[in-house]
Amino acid sequence: MINIQKAAIIGCGFVGTSIAFSLVQKGIFSELVLIDANEKKAEGEAMDLSHGLPFTKPMEIKAGGYEDIADCAMIIITAGANQKPGETRLDLVHKNVEIYKSIIPKIVEKNQEATLLIVSNPVDIMTYVALKLSGYPSHKVIGSGTVLDTARLKYLLSRHLDVDSRSIHAFIIGEHGDSELAVWSAANVSGIPLNHFCELRGYFDHMESMDRIYQSVRDSAYEIIEKKGATYYGVAMAVCRIAESVIRNEHSIMPISVYLDGLYGLHDICLSIPTVVGQEGAEKVLDIPLDLMEMGKLVYSAEELKKIIGELKL
Ligand code: 2OP
Repeated sequence: MINIQKAAIIGCGFVGTSIAFSLVQKGIFSELVLIDANEKKAEGEAMDLSHGLPFTKPMEIKAGGYEDIADCAMIIITAGANQKPGETRLDLVHKNVEIYKSIIPKIVEKNQEATLLIVSNPVDIMTYVALKLSGYPSHKVIGSGTVLDTARLKYLLSRHLDVDSRSIHAFIIGEHGDSELAVWSAANVSGIPLNHFCELRGYFDHMESMDRIYQSVRDSAYEIIEKKGATYYGVAMAVCRIAESVIRNEHSIMPISVYLDGLYGLHDICLSIPTVVGQEGAEKVLDIPLDLMEMGKLVYSAEELKKIIGELKL
């Protein structure tokens, strides 16, 4: 029997533990299992996090093994090699596919009902790999996708326009990586079209600003990795927000990485598209209007991912 308030995190590196920290702060689960190849590390992390519980909400945090995931409603996978300075997310693929080949069958053996939330990079490829290896229904295997990139976009626009980032409605879609694209045609600030709002703020050179902000979003991870060696807080908060929408059945719309087989003319691929996220995982992948240029960029992004998928030996 699935316990809706129980989650597991597989992989207790910087990303996994930052997700755990973020989940503990939010108090959306009452049980959290930490699993890592290094059991001692998982135990230490569980102890450290547990000591903060008097400041948040009661829950049980423990280091465990695959036998502990049988009743988890959500399994968050961060295990894998991470990006080094100069590496792209796609450079990680072969190492991480091998790791998933050992992890996913162990999950399936114990649990076939959880929502799998994939975070390991390259996240779109790893979401596809997790889906194929698990045999789970496609709506139950989702990736953190461009939820973080979208947050980066909102943050940069909020600084540019001096407005609360939560009033900005805009999406980054496609690959969580170099071929991602911004859906500028639909971007708005509380219903006011973005270009109009820019003009209200005294900015008229839209192409220059959009290019600069897009590039900054796309290259954020490289810049952070160059400066501090890894990224983890931003992605942790993005994952926590996705988990919240699933567990509280919020039906929030987020650009998670999802399986497409037909929508936008794209077949047998995972990439990020705005999706209604609730208890069933990816409840409805949205067919949002894109202009011709955006559609071309989405197809290009899908082609880049397809090249990698074509090389996989699953
Ligand atoms: C990020 O975008 C590296 O995918 C990670 O921060």
